[in-house]
Amino acid sequence: MGGLWEEVGQLQFNFLVAQGLKPEHTLLDIACGSLRGGVHFINYLNPGNYLGLDKEQALINRGIEHELGKAEQSEKQPEFVISDCFEFDHFSKVPDYAIAQSLFTHLVEEDIKACLKNLKAFAGDKPLTFFATFFECETPQMGEMDTSHSHAKFEYTRAQMEQFGIEAGWQAEYIGDWNHPRGQKMVCYVTSTGELNE
Ligand SMILES: C[S@@+](CC[C@H](N)C(=O)[O-])C[C@H]1O[C@@H](n2cnc3c(N)ncnc32)[C@H](O)[C@@H]1O
Repeated sequence: MGGLWEEVGQLQFNFLVAQGLKPEHTLLDIACGSLRGGVHFINYLNPGNYLGLDKEQALINRGIEHELGKAEQSEKQPEFVISDCFEFDHFSKVPDYAIAQSLFTHLVEEDIKACLKNLKAFAGDKPLTFFATFFECETPQMGEMDTSHSHAKFEYTRAQMEQFGIEAGWQAEYIGDWNHPRGQKMVCYVTSTGELNE
């Protein structure tokens, strides 16, 4: 694949490396899909340090087959969990960083809150920095649908995104523009034991 696919994959990777991601860190890619960002992260991280979660097994399989390759999978041992309700405790270890690229753009408020709550519980006492993209609006909107949907677009205000995190026990920092070609913005959540990036 090329074009936007490649651009958004590389963008995620460059962003997280600029934020401090090192090969020895563990990264959780929430809604990893067909490994658009995943293939870059898996190549970069030490074996076993990539955790990918998605609700669609078929997308992950496609990513392994067409993006990653069996040899790289065998060498880098990425861990995958199939779940539509953010069962992070199915992974064998707690990450240092997490990213959800183009997930909250498809979720209703309740599901965003569930993701943040479950991830905070999974982190426990470990410092964790979680980056999430979203479509920003100026005033709270009614979503296109009552339930989360991969083909629907949901927009939130900066204050809503920050509040969702705070309610789930995170500190929230608005990052805003990160050069996403479709204008998605970025918010960063950290556990209270983690460091907010300046
Ligand atoms: C627009 S794609 C983004 C995929 C990937 N992050 C990327 O940058 O290419 C959205 C992904 O979210 C996944 N997804 C949607 N709702 C989910 C949920 N509740 N739990 C896990 N994955 C979900 C979809 O299966 C899809 O792979």
